Parts: sequence; structure tokens; C-alpha cells
Amino acid sequence: MSEHGFKLVGVIGAGQMGSGIAQVCATHGLIVTLIDQDAAQTVKAKAQIRASLEKLEAKNVIQAGTMAAAMERLSVATDLAALKDADLVIEAVVENEPLKSKLLAQADQLTRRETILASNTSSIPITRLGAATTRPGQVIGMHFMNPVPLMRLIEVIPGMATTSHTTDRILALCQALGKEVSRSQDYPGFIVNRILMPMINEAFTALMEGIASAEDIDKGMQLGTNQPMGPLHLADFIGLDTCLAIMEVLHEGLGDPRYRPSPLLRKYVEAGFLGRKRQRGVFTYT
Ligand code: CAA
Ligand code: NAD
Repeated sequence: MSEHGFKLVGVIGAGQMGSGIAQVCATHGLIVTLIDQDAAQTVKAKAQIRASLEKLEAKNVIQAGTMAAAMERLSVATDLAALKDADLVIEAVVENEPLKSKLLAQADQLTRRETILASNTSSIPITRLGAATTRPGQVIGMHFMNPVPLMRLIEVIPGMATTSHTTDRILALCQALGKEVSRSQDYPGFIVNRILMPMINEAFTALMEGIASAEDIDKGMQLGTNQPMGPLHLADFIGLDTCLAIMEVLHEGLGDPRYRPSPLLRKYVEAGFLGRKRQRGVFTYT
């Protein structure tokens, strides 16, 4: 067993983040159970992981044979009981605090006392999520970036009660997964979304005020500031529901009107135009 000491990992939520997290963990030798309440989503996630690994293997980003070995180490489930033997649980369901607290409390009941419970939340304070369990010392933020197999960073966020032993093991795991770490104090949005999401939100306000078309806003920011995609495409890529949820956490948690979610962002979410995952957001996708 390596320095971090984890062997069996349970990932809750098989959406775009949970499936990417499961993929990266399985690729690096961990035995992974990926759980979602939606059975169809677990099937879709497994197919997406296979396709991503095939692509990475074809490009020699990973060694030949890695895909088959990773797929062997990956299983899917719909029942949280599958977490029973996990050394580490990584929660990656939708950005909703009551749901995350409920699932972490259930994981707390189902797993061994020494199991660490991590959340991939984009913005919700880890201290509050930890307080929903009987083991706040073993609850930590492990914030992967999208798309997980390609992005180099993980933000690590210890809560107020998180022990240094928990943090050290998670830092060792991030290194074993081949990722860079940025450590953040536990405040709403941590580092990345405290800075990224107001930019995305401002792009929606600019669109709402008619400053420019969606295409010109994105072109301005992509070519004018050398970003891989413009803010509106990035919002579609992240998921507009997730962007809105993060802005709401920033607005409520920091109490400053400058974090008010753009009414246009809210309108897209209310219309069900959630971005790439629904083939329609600011832009449409086939
Ligand atoms: N697995 C394997 N390959 C993948 C992949 C995946 N999951 N996702 C994309 N690729 C491949 C594509 O298939 C493509 O391969 P080919 O060149 O062979 O066709 C290659 O990567 C490049 O992709 P694209 O041509 O689609 O486009 P691109 O060059 O723009 O790269 C991107 C895609 C890496 C996503 C890039 O646009 C990018 O870095 N965008 C910004 C991403 C970003 O900012 N992420 C952070 C979001 S914030 C966050 O995650 C935190 C939060 O809490 C919200
Ligand atoms: P998503 O909508 O793609 O996936 C969420 C998954 O959670 C869905 O498959 C859904 O079926 C599942 N789920 C919902 N309730 C559940 C339950 N009770 N039990 C089991 N599964 C349940 O969302 P996502 O983009 O993968 O985001 C997941 C988390 O990761 C959020 O907290 C988000 O803020 C965070 N995050 C997102 C990004 C991003 O760019 N999308 C980046 C970093 C972190």
C-alpha cells in the first residue's frame, strides 16, 4: 500500500465529475465503486470512462493496457451500501448542501471509523459538511477540476475540525494521482470559484445588458485574455445549474451584493437550459 494508504474508493455521483474522479482513481491503481441513484447514469458513466481512456491510450497519454486494467478495477452500483469497505469516500453529487450533508451522514453510518469522507463541492464550506457527520476530523474538501482526466489541479480544503493526519493522506493521494495541489482555507468558493464564478456571472450580466452577443463576449475573453474557452462556453461546460448554485453560496455565505447571481443565469436554469449536459445552454450542442 502506498503512502496515502487508500485501496478501496467509493465515489458518490456518476455525473461528469464523479465519473472523471472514478476514472483517474482507477487509472492510478485504486479499486473504485462508482455510485449513482440513477442506474442509467452509471451505465453512461462507464461508457464515457471507457471512451476517454481509449482516447488517452490511442494518444499515448497513458500506457497500452492501462484502459483494460482500470476498467477491471471499476464497478458501479446504485446503493450506498456498496461503500461498506471503502477506505475513502468522495462525494460528487449535485451542488446542494442538504443533499450533500445527508449523503455524508449516511456514508458516516455505513463505513468503518477510519474511513475518510471527502467532498468535491465547488463552494460549500467543508466545516458545515463535516458537522453533519460524527467524524468532522476525517472530512475534507477535495475539489477536482473539469475535465478531471485532463486538468492538473485539485484544490484541497481542510475544514475547521479536519485533522492534519487526514489532510496529509489526501495530499499524498493527490500526488499519487499525478495532480498539483492548491490548498485553500475553508471560505465559500475556496480559491478557484471565488475568482472564476464572478467572471462567468459578469458575462451573463453583460449578455443581459446587451453589451455584446454571446459569441462576441466569448471571443473577446477567449482571444483577448488567452483563455481556452470563453466564459459562456465554460459556463455551459460546467453546467449552468452548478454555476448558479455556486453564486448562491458566494452571495449567501459572503453577504456581499457583488456576488448576486445574474438574473439571466437564473432564467436559463429555470428554463432547464443547463448547458452541454442537456445539449442546450447559452449555446446549443448536437
Ligand atoms: N478525456 C479524454 N480526452 C478528452 C476529454 C476527456 N475527459 N475531454 C476532452 N478530451 C480531448 C478531446 O477529445 C480532444 O481530443 P482530440 O484533439 O483528439 O479531438 C482534446 O481533448 C481537446 O479537446 P477539444 O478539441 O474539445 O477542445 P480544447 O482543445 O478546447 O480542450 C478543454 C478541451 C481541455 C476542456 C479546454 O477547452 C479547456 O481547458 N477548457 C477550460 C476548462 C476549465 O477551465 N476547467 C475548469 C472549470 S472550473 C472547475 O472545474 C471548478 C468548478 O467547481 C466549476
Ligand atoms: P452532474 O449533474 O453532472 O452529476 C451529478 C450526479 O449526482 C448525477 O448523475 C445525479 O444522478 C447524481 N445524484 C444526485 N442525487 C444523488 C443521490 N442522492 N445519490 C447518488 N447520486 C445522486 O454534476 P457535476 O458537474 O458532476 O457536479 C457534481 C459536483 O461536483 C457538484 O458539487 C459540483 O459543484 C462539483 N464540481 C463541478 C464541476 C463542473 O465543472 N461541473 C467542477 C468541479 C466540481
